[in-house]
Amino acid sequence: MVIAIDGPAGAGKSTVARALAERLGATYLDSGAMYRSVALLTVRAGADPDDPAAVVPLAEGLDIGMAGRTITIGAEDVSAAIRTPEVTAAASRVSVHRGVREAMVQRQRELLSDGAWVAEGRDIGTVVYPEAPLKVFLTASPEERARRRAAESGEEAEAVLAAQRERDARDIEREHGALAPAADSVEVDTTGLGIDEVVEAIAEIASARGLS
Ligand code: DC
Repeated sequence: MVIAIDGPAGAGKSTVARALAERLGATYLDSGAMYRSVALLTVRAGADPDDPAAVVPLAEGLDIGMAGRTITIGAEDVSAAIRTPEVTAAASRVSVHRGVREAMVQRQRELLSDGAWVAEGRDIGTVVYPEAPLKVFLTASPEERARRRAAESGEEAEAVLAAQRERDARDIEREHGALAPAADSVEVDTTGLGIDEVVEAIAEIASARGLS
């Protein structure tokens, strides 16, 4: 069983998906951590994130481990390293390449084929797992999303908003796995809502569909 939670950065996906997974006794999948890990390897290799010939082999060979909040590449804990602004910017660029997406989507499908999952990303409901019985598209206003990110990271809200605009555009405009609500998704605008309210609303829908 898979519940897909897609939407732009800062809409509250991670917090909501984690809380929902805990509530339903499901496992949380952070697909963004996989793209971030490819970006980290790219940055460390001094490779160009826009060059698929450099990036796709790194994605295909990625030895990633995901256990709760801990993300590892090989034996190294990279949980913090994949969240820096530099890697965040590179993640948005490496994730446009078709070969990168194919490698990540294949692994995500393998994981999701067994067990109960709440999976978070951009394309879970549209590409990775269209058969998910509940697909949620979480949104919030750009200003609110930037405010949340800035409060988390300590960066300046204006700078976060500018970087976020660029990443949003790349997410929406890319040819493969573009950010878009699945036709049968439930859209939830989290602007002005608390996490508990959002989780409660989604849990109610899940329950109504016999998923809890
Ligand atoms: O959700 P996040 O901020 O951790 O995602 C990091 C980057 O990965 C973001 O630029 C978009 C990309 N991404 C993607 O293309 N597809 C996904 N399913 C998840 C993330």
